[in-house]
Amino acid sequence: PSITFISHDGVEKEVHVAPGTSVMQAAIDNAVSGILADCGGACSCATCHCYVDEAWKEKVPAAEDIEAQMLDFVMDPEENSRLSCQIVVSEELDGLIVRLPASQI
Ligand code: FES
Repeated sequence: PSITFISHDGVEKEVHVAPGTSVMQAAIDNAVSGILADCGGACSCATCHCYVDEAWKEKVPAAEDIEAQMLDFVMDPEENSRLSCQIVVSEELDGLIVRLPASQI
């Protein structure tokens, strides 16, 4: 599946990853800047914050409680905020678009 990352200043980067990869890992593996992922995907750092594009909000499985709690710590939370390490790429999410915040905490 492909994922398109859009930086806070509008630069788009499309990457292709294997199903089962997290959106965070897809960003790290493809040198997408704007995702820090300090904890390596353990849902404990909140530096992999992203915004799921409106068109994809319904298709991405909802956040678990621990992710929702961690989202309280991000700098610019929005209704469509997610931690990218908790979104697993699947064929259903082929074409997913996520936007990156201006900065991670
Ligand atoms: Fe740390 Fe996602 S990588 S919370």
